[in-house]
Amino acid sequence: MRQAEPRLQSKLLAWLLGPLLALLVLDTAVTYWTSVDFSNLAHDRSLNEIAREVALHIKPNGSGPKLELSPAAERILLLDQDDRLAYKVWTQSGAVIGGDPEIARPARLPSVSGKPLFYGAVLHGEPVRMVASWARVEGDDASGPVLVQVAETLNKRKRLAWEILANVVVPQLLLIVMATGAVYFGISRGLVPLKRLQHAVSDRNHLDLTPVEIHGVPGEVRPLVEEVNELMQRLGKTLDFQNRFIADAAHQLKTPVAGLKAQIEMALRENDPERVRHSLAQLYVGADRLSRLVRQLLSLARNEPGATDTVQLQALDLNAFALEISMGWVPQAIKEGIDLGFEGAEPVLIDADADRLRELINNLIDNAVRYSQRGGRVTIAVATSENGEGRLSISDDGPSIPVEERGRIFERFHRLLGSHTDGSGLGLAIVSEIASLHGARITLEEDRSDGIGNTFSVFFPASRSEADRDA
Ligand SMILES: Nc1ncnc2c1ncn2[C@@H]1O[C@H](COP(=O)(O)OP(=O)(O)OP(=O)(O)O)[C@@H](O)[C@H]1O
Ligand SMILES: [Mg+2]
Repeated sequence: MRQAEPRLQSKLLAWLLGPLLALLVLDTAVTYWTSVDFSNLAHDRSLNEIAREVALHIKPNGSGPKLELSPAAERILLLDQDDRLAYKVWTQSGAVIGGDPEIARPARLPSVSGKPLFYGAVLHGEPVRMVASWARVEGDDASGPVLVQVAETLNKRKRLAWEILANVVVPQLLLIVMATGAVYFGISRGLVPLKRLQHAVSDRNHLDLTPVEIHGVPGEVRPLVEEVNELMQRLGKTLDFQNRFIADAAHQLKTPVAGLKAQIEMALRENDPERVRHSLAQLYVGADRLSRLVRQLLSLARNEPGATDTVQLQALDLNAFALEISMGWVPQAIKEGIDLGFEGAEPVLIDADADRLRELINNLIDNAVRYSQRGGRVTIAVATSENGEGRLSISDDGPSIPVEERGRIFERFHRLLGSHTDGSGLGLAIVSEIASLHGARITLEEDRSDGIGNTFSVFFPASRSEADRDA
């Protein structure tokens, strides 16, 4: 099963909200510690007040300072709605004067003249905030200051810290929720052109290859749409070619097939074995012509630049290659009484697809042999032209193709009026397709000015391996 890709919208939201939430967590932690500090600052002062109050109840006594605090006064002093309070008083030398026996003397003492010392401790198993400060006993200068400690549980402080935290974090949270909404809305709005694009593509007919409207498409997506449009244009061309080809092929095949059928019907009606033989011989010619037409049609389809698979060009010697093909034509030339000649001496290296090059040469020789008169002369020549191209020429001494026809004979199905011999009119179209697959150009010249002779020349770029070697 294909795993659904997360939508762009969710991705953008995740990328924005992830860091925002991480920031919020960090901010909350920092805010919490700051609020605890603030809360302590606010309550430490009143804790110190209580310590001073306790100190006021220490009176000089003959043997040393003494705590004079009635249980009722002590209750009032330690009265608090939220927290439990406890105190302890020590002499400078460390003797206990009074208070909660559980309270330990601080490990580090505040300086006698300096500020009170605030610190955290544990009392009766509960965390407490503690103040320790020195106090002078009125009227007792002899025994020195006393150390007063007051402890307070943390309820008030915690509550204040949380209140501060809530006041800071809740608006931030709200802000994030609102930002999420705004971002979500913004992204949705931003993605509208993409949705429109999606509809423009999904609503169209599968044969509609007109370009997608580029107007209003965001800049980031524009190159993609342009690429798609270009692809559709290429597809359109291929589709056009194929449609045209199918129509042409059907049209071209209809007549010979109907002819074959008529010939068969005639042959079936014959009783005379000699005439049946004759009909069969004619049928053979018709079938042969049809099979050439089919071959040429397939070749045309195969070599159409838009419809072809990649062409594998390999370095080959045009001279040896053309000579070998020319040799294959000798029996046919003898049969037609044609003097077939080959001119070529040096190897001429070009990059070519051997099968296609063979088709090209065969088509040109076929035309030269077919359209020149009996007793004519056909010459195949290979050479390197002045600018380094590999030149292949096929000349005949038949009647020259009229100047106004020279462009048109390369069109599909175009044949000269009065061409007596059979032909489908595809050979030169195939030749020009194959030539363009090789980056080659074709020229057609008459050999002489008296309306006799044609020379078809194909100029192939020099082989790259040749160029590399020269470099
Ligand atoms: N060497 C030539 N001399 C005179 N006419 C030529 C020559 N080559 C081509 N032609 C003319 O150009 C026309 C188109 O040639 P092309 O090779 O494309 O088709 P074809 O020979 O009629 O058919 P096919 O080659 O597909 O069997 C030919 O019908 C013929 O009239
Ligand atoms: Mg031909």
